[in-house]
Amino acid sequence: MDDTEIHKKVEQILFTREEIENRIFQLAKWVNTTYKNSENLLMLSVLKGSIPFLSQLIKDVKVDHAIDFMTVSSWHGKTKSSGQIKIVMDLDSDIKNKDVLIVEDIIDSGKTLQKIIDILKNRQPNSIKIITLINKKIAAKRFIEPDMYGFKINDFFIVGYGLDFEEKLRNLPYIGIFKTEK
Ligand code: IMP
Ligand code: MG
Repeated sequence: MDDTEIHKKVEQILFTREEIENRIFQLAKWVNTTYKNSENLLMLSVLKGSIPFLSQLIKDVKVDHAIDFMTVSSWHGKTKSSGQIKIVMDLDSDIKNKDVLIVEDIIDSGKTLQKIIDILKNRQPNSIKIITLINKKIAAKRFIEPDMYGFKINDFFIVGYGLDFEEKLRNLPYIGIFKTEK
């Protein structure tokens, strides 16, 4: 399948590979400016959805930094959030006195991130900020807002560029609206 061919489970492409990569380049510039005086930047990627975003982003991040990973589960293979959050795999590094930049694929209600931040704050980092590729506009209460985001979308269920439906479709080079079965 090439980039222009649309997957049968995708209703419509929202952002092409080129649009995503151009936007991530700008986000990297934001990271460079925001952390230009930071001695201890840690980019914390929330697995698994943020992997393609993180790997594209750090190509243009010029500030010295380390990366680390955390896995939480908040989504149980359905297209609706369960509201239950569990730490499946914790960070490897000590974040004390570090500038932590949480790298997320998408913020929906923000419940997942709120929980992650509560845990991280107890570990006395110097600062915590959030960058997310996608920021969903939802009608319901938002628990948290990102410091920076790539794209704002309406409340659709989307897949691709790391975002999955039942663990699949993360590999799509674009972001599209998932075709929900009738
Ligand atoms: P929140 O706690 O409601 O913000 O949910 C955040 C998590 O749910 C994200 O990190 C994703 O893993 C997942 N998620 C939310 N919306 C979508 C979507 O449209 N497509 C795929 N996964 C989603
Ligand atoms: Mg996620």
